[in-house]
Amino acid sequence: MAPTDPLWTRNAVAGLDRLLRDHAHCEMKAASNALSLSTRCVEHPVVVDELVAIAEEELAHFRLVLAELRRRGFVLGAPEEDWYAAELRRRSSRTRVRHDLASFVLTDRMVVAAFIEARSCERFKLLRDALCDRDPTLATFYGDLLASEARHHRTFLDLAAIVSGDEHHVAERRQVVAAIEADVVRSLSHQPTMHG
Ligand SMILES: [Fe+2]
Ligand SMILES: [Fe+2]
Repeated sequence: MAPTDPLWTRNAVAGLDRLLRDHAHCEMKAASNALSLSTRCVEHPVVVDELVAIAEEELAHFRLVLAELRRRGFVLGAPEEDWYAAELRRRSSRTRVRHDLASFVLTDRMVVAAFIEARSCERFKLLRDALCDRDPTLATFYGDLLASEARHHRTFLDLAAIVSGDEHHVAERRQVVAAIEADVVRSLSHQPTMHG
């Protein structure tokens, strides 16, 4: 994975109010994405169960971030656009060979979700390390959350294999999406948002 520019970490640490607000919304979006995917995977009960479990966990994360925001006297506010996630979806969809097969679309949505989880995990790690002297409470907070996102990354790849039924196809899409993700990350403007 292409590493995040160190400028992002500096900006994020300097803009914790905006970062935490955006982070709370990211957790809510992750929960709602997992639920929306679950309604399209009814042929695979195992996948539905996993997605609902992820949604519950993301919602619990949302509550934790919201509590952290309030403890600091910040309010949630309206969500910002997540250009990174939108662009990743857009560009990945352009490279999809078939749009008519639901399993191809679902596989891609799982693979893209896996990359978003991996990127979030990388950023939580950067925040944990950057905050350990300045804000140990928040450093621990991010240290605790990153294990879940690493697990979600692996789960989404497993789910992609189930809905696709073709490991080779999943491996191919992972390669394509990885290249797109690296490119999208290089175009970011290092805003103090979770995927900025
Ligand atoms: Fe989460
Ligand atoms: Fe997650």
